[in-house]
Amino acid sequence: MTLASQLLAWYNHNARKLPWRNDKDAYKIWVSEIMLQQTRVEAVKDYYARWMERFPTMAVLAKASEQEVLSYWQGLGYYSRARNLLSGVREVCAAYGGEVPAEQTAIQNLPGVGEYTAGAIASIAYNRPVPAIDGNVLRIFSRLFCLEEDIARPATKREVRRLVCQHMSVEYPGDFNQALMDLGAMVCIPRHPRCENCPLTNLCEAYEREVQDTLPVRSPK
Ligand code: ADE
Repeated sequence: MTLASQLLAWYNHNARKLPWRNDKDAYKIWVSEIMLQQTRVEAVKDYYARWMERFPTMAVLAKASEQEVLSYWQGLGYYSRARNLLSGVREVCAAYGGEVPAEQTAIQNLPGVGEYTAGAIASIAYNRPVPAIDGNVLRIFSRLFCLEEDIARPATKREVRRLVCQHMSVEYPGDFNQALMDLGAMVCIPRHPRCENCPLTNLCEAYEREVQDTLPVRSPK
């Protein structure tokens, strides 16, 4: 068994049931990922549902006024996310013939979309085998491979990226990335990880050495 196959088997039974996981429409994935950038999953659910009822497609959103779009973001905060999303969707409608591009690099050129979000959209909506590395993934991999260098260092992040790419599922990259999100949210949590529920303990160096609670290392600035 490989890391990816163990993780995917766990995900198939334990995935959180989230509204944006019912549909591979790249626009819907995009909206969910932008909402999730600075907002907790539980808070996003209702906003996402209301948004999709009013703006079910990019064509509908592109025609809406910024004022109305912002009213659907009211309460989520970080309103530049909504403004960027609206401009990005108008750009896609005008320049890409109404299709969200599938390449991570092209997605990343859209306003408000960084490397993580572009990786999430490319992998979930288009099955591109690209990583989506956030704090959860840094924590999980620093434990799996007992990385004791400061996780904030670019060199440590590059090492995590290399390891994620090495272990990524090429067949199910979207599920692989979302499985890491769920593992980080429910099992490999920052303090007192729930290793008894983890599908990867047989591969985890930190677990083996009983140092999971000391990782990742974050040096004081
Ligand atoms: N956080 C960011 N993207 C997410 C996703 N697709 N599912 C769950 N949590 C997330």
